[in-house]
Amino acid sequence: MTKIQKKKHGRSLIAGVNALFREIETNKGEAAILKDVYAGYFAERGGLVGILNMARFVIPPLNRILHSLQTVHNIRHCAIDHCVLEAYKQGCRQFVILGAGYDMRPFRFSQIRNDASSLWIELDNPATAERKMQLLENIPDADIQCQIKRIQVRFEDRSLKHLLEEAEVREEEAICFILEGIIHYQSEEDFQNMCVDMLTGQFHREIVLSFITPKTVERAGKWQRQLLTWVKEIPKLFFTPHALKEHFQEYDCNFFQHWNYNEQVASFAPHAKERSVRQSQDVAHIARRVLP
Ligand SMILES: C[S@@+](CC[C@H](N)C(=O)[O-])C[C@H]1O[C@@H](n2cnc3c(N)ncnc32)[C@H](O)[C@@H]1O
Repeated sequence: MTKIQKKKHGRSLIAGVNALFREIETNKGEAAILKDVYAGYFAERGGLVGILNMARFVIPPLNRILHSLQTVHNIRHCAIDHCVLEAYKQGCRQFVILGAGYDMRPFRFSQIRNDASSLWIELDNPATAERKMQLLENIPDADIQCQIKRIQVRFEDRSLKHLLEEAEVREEEAICFILEGIIHYQSEEDFQNMCVDMLTGQFHREIVLSFITPKTVERAGKWQRQLLTWVKEIPKLFFTPHALKEHFQEYDCNFFQHWNYNEQVASFAPHAKERSVRQSQDVAHIARRVLP
């Protein structure tokens, strides 16, 4: 493997920054949008992230964009928490996280962590997944009843169908797929293939995802573009809510709910409405719910 390829497949800095954002938010106590007591174990602090964190104090626009990114990430994570718990209520006991990063939902939701019948599959790029495995060792023994399987993969290299088979997911039972901060990195073809594999058959499926709209891309400012270039994680696939809904209707999905940023705040974190933000990702909860 060449040096450039190695870099391209390195761990995701954004996943580690998201953990840092959740840690900072959690430490706000009463005013926090969400609580993730595990985030601090995974937060990226060194290298480029450390430099930016210092530079923000002398570059006000950078400081503003980092504040904004922190708020939008936490509100989105909180919105997705809500959708995942709703999928659990709808009967899902199998959860597949694509591009899991440092998502700690199986640990964070007491109801789910104590449910021995629930199975979580985390799929992630090997470099990010390996870092997570190493850092998980620092977490004091958690009393987790649910089962967690982790598979290291690059989505370009293996189909989701094969990954689900390897994880021994029971395809005739309900499955909830979680795609937070990931679909915009896929090619159109890879995303199509993922959808086919998520929605094969006529079984109960819930899909919770975040996505970037073309309008959000248009409005992205200089600093936001620059940050994405520096971390080398450039989004390339965008949807309007309408296009996303139509896309999933082709797979017989009969439930579609969508939240833009203001709707996420109003529904899940009304106390954060005074915070000033710029670009965010929208959230959608899509399902094919079948009659028993
Ligand atoms: C922006 S991070 C989001 C992480 C986490 N879901 C969150 O919201 O904090 C994107 C995640 O997707 C993973 N990822 C990106 N492209 C991937 C690919 N082609 N194959 C496998 N994993 C990928 C990265 O390793 C990273 O964990």
